[in-house]
Amino acid sequence: MGKDRPREAAEDSAEASLKGLLNHDGAARLYGRAKGHSLSPRALRLMRDHLPRLRLDLAQPAPEKLTALFPKSVDAVVLEIGFGGGEHLVAGARNTPRVGFIGSEPFVNGVAKLVRAVVEHDLDNVRIHDHDARDLLDWLPSESVDRIDLLYPDPWPKKRHWKRRFVNAQSLDRLARVLRPGGAFRFASDIDSYIAWTLFEVRRHGRFSWQASTAADWRTPWPGWPGTRYEAKALREGRRGHYLTFLLAP
Ligand SMILES: C[S@@+](CC[C@H](N)C(=O)[O-])C[C@H]1O[C@@H](n2cnc3c(N)ncnc32)[C@H](O)[C@@H]1O
Repeated sequence: MGKDRPREAAEDSAEASLKGLLNHDGAARLYGRAKGHSLSPRALRLMRDHLPRLRLDLAQPAPEKLTALFPKSVDAVVLEIGFGGGEHLVAGARNTPRVGFIGSEPFVNGVAKLVRAVVEHDLDNVRIHDHDARDLLDWLPSESVDRIDLLYPDPWPKKRHWKRRFVNAQSLDRLARVLRPGGAFRFASDIDSYIAWTLFEVRRHGRFSWQASTAADWRTPWPGWPGTRYEAKALREGRRGHYLTFLLAP
């Protein structure tokens, strides 16, 4: 019993110092869960020491040139909405160091995983928004992002919950404003009704064109695809991924 006390004290103090750092007022209501199991003392320390420099400050105006968000020079900017544990984002950041990656995710445990990976791999092309992507999209300058990835978004499979899905006319307006003309919006899902929903919403929106001519185009993952944690679960459970690419009209 007694030997656990220092560890508990360390966790309490790290958790207390993290409290001021977190940004989650009311997030649980929006996303179902903003925090899962408790973070380890090491994860708490990494968050305390590194999240402040990685996190975007939406209280400040966005830089005119978005590439200025990164400490090194980058040629393009990619936004990933709902990065989960960050595995896909980290693979991209490691494989394409000249691209700057912004990840948005309100789930604290996912943010902690990404922070750890950024530190472990010494990545200098990643920034984080640990809250709702819609706030971030409203903050980003027009025509500033080269690609936006929405990978396995929360499926909300029950019909009465479909209105909670991220893809809707308002979100597509936001994506269309922020993407540069000709930029890509990539969507992956294993849920048939969400795929059909997205194709319908995007078509109705009218600013994007779907880049598919044969079934292979939506059944084949993008080149260099590392997969995602959620996709691995879907595949284990016998579902398959669909990969939709839409380009914003010039
Ligand atoms: C089903 S999980 C998929 C995670 C990851 N993309 C993957 O494929 O493993 C969906 C994620 O989207 C996040 N999310 C939901 N609403 C969001 C929002 N408005 N802005 C940013 N992230 C959001 C959730 O917290 C969750 O981690």
